[in-house]
Amino acid sequence: MIRILSLLVGAFFTVVLAWSFGVGAYTAATEPHAPTAEKVFHLKPKELDLPSNGPFGKFDRQQLQRGFKVYEEVCAACHSIKHVAFRDLAALGYNEAEIKAIAAKSTVAGKDPLTGEVKDRPGLPSDYFPPVVYAGLGHPPDLSLITKARHDGPAYVYSLLTGYQEQPAELLKRFPEAKTGDGLHYNPYFANLNLAMPAPIVSDGQVTYSDGTKATVDQMSKDVSAFLVWTAEPKLENRHQTGFWWIGFLIFATVLGYMAYRNVWAEKKGH
Ligand code: HEC
Repeated sequence: MIRILSLLVGAFFTVVLAWSFGVGAYTAATEPHAPTAEKVFHLKPKELDLPSNGPFGKFDRQQLQRGFKVYEEVCAACHSIKHVAFRDLAALGYNEAEIKAIAAKSTVAGKDPLTGEVKDRPGLPSDYFPPVVYAGLGHPPDLSLITKARHDGPAYVYSLLTGYQEQPAELLKRFPEAKTGDGLHYNPYFANLNLAMPAPIVSDGQVTYSDGTKATVDQMSKDVSAFLVWTAEPKLENRHQTGFWWIGFLIFATVLGYMAYRNVWAEKKGH
């Protein structure tokens, strides 16, 4: 009796399972996927041509310095670059005195070598860029590694900075519920189209460049993206160079191997 009962219960569950699977598969196959505002209006990053691109890419020091200036004067109000030490800036071509002066502009929490007490003091070249206190809406991420953390990072940062615009009328017509919320800003390059960061680079000449380059919104956005490629991978040039030497070595080894092969077989064939 118990056996028959459990068999019936098992059969019942099997039938219910098969039925719900069938219904699910049918709906998935026949119901059209509802388009969302993100699916329709999100854009892929624009093209960004940086000197560091490609297997032989190198940094343009002047550009990195300009980008650092944009970071310092604009982005640093909200974003930290905690993986970068002030002395790393030597790679951008700054000398010791300049680095000391840049570091001294920041306040860092340092331990007193005698008492161990933590006290605020001006930054030293050996310090890392300190955390940034931000009180506004949203959470500005640390930017040191952002160009590695996002797909097509450098182009993404550049597109984000230059991509702010009014919400298209068509979007509002088709998806009235996707209206940009209070305190948010529409940007089709951001994954969900609306972000808490207001456009940070808004007018030509916002940063004063000392190398004669025209500080247009586009140029400043490019330069700061180039700088953030460097913060994420300061040794990029070494990697490119090592790759280059490896390829050279492999070609050399291949030629050598081929010559050795010819040599060995030449004797055998001769007799
Ligand atoms: C007024 C403060 C503020 C300034 C200035 C600012 N940001 Fe932001 N930023 C934010 C906030 C807040 C977020 C988080 C936005 C969100 O998640 O909705 C953010 C996010 C970002 C993101 C991440 C987007 C993502 O994919 O998660 C990048 C990249 C970025 N900012 C770059 C910059 C750069 C470069 C500058 C300088 C040119 C800058 N920001 C200046 C506040 C700021």
